[in-house]
Parts: sequence; structure tokens; C-alpha cells
Amino acid sequence: MKKHIVLLPGDGIGTEVMEAAKEVLTTIADEFNHSFSYEVHDIGGVAIDFHGTPLPKQTVEACNNADAVLLGAVGGPKWDQLPSHLRPEKGLLGIRKALDLFANLRPVKSFDHLLHASPLKEELVKGSDLLIVRELTGGLYFGTPSERQQNGQSVVDTLFYTRQEIERIVDKAFQCAQTRRKHLTSVDKANVLESSKLWREIVEEKKQQYPEVTVEHLLVDAAAMKLITNPTQFDVIVTENMFGDILSDEASVLTGSLGMLPSASLREDGVGLYEPVHGSAPDIAGQGKANPIAMILSSAMMLRHSFGLDEEARLIEETVESILNAGFHTADLNMKSGQQIGTVEMTQLIVES
Ligand code: NAI
Ligand code: MG
Repeated sequence: MKKHIVLLPGDGIGTEVMEAAKEVLTTIADEFNHSFSYEVHDIGGVAIDFHGTPLPKQTVEACNNADAVLLGAVGGPKWDQLPSHLRPEKGLLGIRKALDLFANLRPVKSFDHLLHASPLKEELVKGSDLLIVRELTGGLYFGTPSERQQNGQSVVDTLFYTRQEIERIVDKAFQCAQTRRKHLTSVDKANVLESSKLWREIVEEKKQQYPEVTVEHLLVDAAAMKLITNPTQFDVIVTENMFGDILSDEASVLTGSLGMLPSASLREDGVGLYEPVHGSAPDIAGQGKANPIAMILSSAMMLRHSFGLDEEARLIEETVESILNAGFHTADLNMKSGQQIGTVEMTQLIVES
């Protein structure tokens, strides 16, 4: 298989973990006889330094012509004083929007060997393996009007969705559930919100098309509670933009470190942008300490969701798990035992296994 991948390393540890992901992809390509070509472009702080803008035109153009995009992380203290339209984070929001990436997939899995790195009880977290499918380009964060009114004494935000916007994210979630444990939890606030009532209706309609998937509806407040009191009850969770934003940060405490969490943001035609959930970690940048696993698992998601290479993706995921089970970990994981190693050693172990 021949694929063209745009790499946007960005700032801080973004460049370090991107190097790691590229090495893993090169190894996979050799092993499975694929041909991956790479094109590196600037985004975020590095783009501000070299082009005077966090999202240069040529970066957007290259992403538009790519089969998939891998992104490291953006930002850092060097650019913190800039006006908000010039900040590195604008590059990130801009590229998601420019590519119409409506589906945000965040898998959250607790690895057995890392259980005590989570602040939650081990027996409660053990076996957690869920996927949050969050609508990313609609809802409260994009609806208009969103403004102060009456001389600033009242204020409005708008939660707006079209049927088509809900249908495409619900379809995506059912498709994900089909490839997993075939259980879908739809999270809404249908006892109060009109938008949630339509959301629930659409999930009910769609489930006829996916008879092998069991469907459960949960109100968002109950879902927030169950996510940390009984996380193993979940397989795939589908929800609107803001609920997904909140629940996915909450779910991240199941894993023990930000450095473990990958994500995918997808468009309807399968083009996607894959990035770790963490930021540029300026406190450890340039020290060779960064955990490359979130970025490496993001590249596995790229193989699966943009290229349909499930076997290759699974090989990466299983290899990562086996290295963790063997006791190796980076400094971000609060481990009592095992062997602490750096970014390069972790990457080497994964590549050689
Ligand atoms: P952060 O995620 O960069 O770091 C939070 C803490 O976790 C730090 O102590 C860091 O050392 C640690 N950490 C994060 N990823 C790690 C990894 N892979 N390995 C080891 N340790 C890791 O969040 P923070 O500090 O709030 O933000 C730093 C900069 O990153 C800011 O400029 C922020 O705006 C930006 N940022 C960018 C994001 C992105 O590009 N998607 C997301 C979040 C923040
Ligand atoms: Mg958030």
C-alpha cells in the first residue's frame, strides 16, 4: 500500500515524539511491504518563528493533499505573550476546521501494568477499555449567536445541530462499536435539552442498521459518575461536542499519564489528523524524557482508521503493551517498580520487538 503522510511535529516534545512515531511507521512499512512517504511542515510556534503565522498556507495545502496527517504538539512559554490570534494554539484549531474533522476518537485503555499509576482504585480501573467518539465541529462551541447582549448584562451561547451532523457522528460511532465489543452508550441530556431529544431519536433510528450493536442511553450527569465508578461497563461512548470534551478529560484519569493517550480526528472520506492528547511539555522538552507512546498509538490509529490497516495497528498496540508489561516505562508514569527509560530507548524497544 502506498500512502503519503504529512508530519507536523510542532513544538517542544512534539518533535521528539514525532521522530519516534516515524521510526515505528518505517519499521511497519518494511515488515508489511507498504510504501509510506513523508512530508514535514510547520505548525504552531515553530511556524510563527519561520513564517510569522501559526498556520502557514502551505501547511494547509499539504494536509489537504495528504492521505493522513500526524501532529505532535504546539505551544510553549516563548509564544505566550503573543496576541491570541497569533498564538500557536490557533494553528491547531485552524487545521481541524480547515480539514472539516468532525469526528474525534479518543480511546482510553488502562494497561494492567500501570494500574497503580491511576489515582483511582486499581480493582475499579482494571480492564477499562473504552472509546469516546466526540462530535468536534458543531454544537455549543460553534453555534451562533454567541455573544453578550443588553449592554453586556445578558449573554447567549447556541447549541445548534443539524440532523445530518448528528447522523454522521452516530454512524461513525456505530461503525467503531462494530469493530469492538459491540456496545454503544449514547450520552445526552434528553430530559432537558431539545437538541438531545433529536440526538436520541437519531440513535434509535440508526440502531436498526446495526442490529449486532447493543445501545444504551445515559444522561450526561449519570455518565460522568459511572465513568469513574464503573468504567468497565463502557465500550463506545458517543456524544456531542461539549459533553465529549468534558468526559474525555475525565476518562483520561483511568490511564495514569497524559503521555499514554492517542486521538484521531476524522473527516467523512477517511482523511484524518492524529495526535497525542498531551501538549508540548516545555518542562521536559529537549531532555529525551518524553513518553512517545501517545504519539506512537496515534500513528497506529492512523493505520487503522485512514488506511484500513488493522493488523498493523494491532501489532503496534500489542507491542506497546508487552513492553509495558515487561516493566519498562518513561518518567511521567508514577511507578514503584520496573525500569525507567527515555524516549529513544522506549522507541528502540518498540521497534525491535
Ligand atoms: P502538557 O500536556 O504539555 O504537559 C502537562 C504535564 O504532563 C507536564 O508536566 C508534562 O511534562 C507532562 N507530559 C505531557 N505529555 C508528556 C509526555 N508525552 N511524556 C512525559 N510527560 C508528559 O500541558 P501544559 O503543560 O498545560 O501545556 C504546555 C504547552 O502545550 C502550552 O503551550 C499549551 O498551550 C500546549 N498544549 C498543546 C496541546 C496540543 O498541541 N494539542 C494540548 C495541550 C496543551
Ligand atoms: Mg478539553
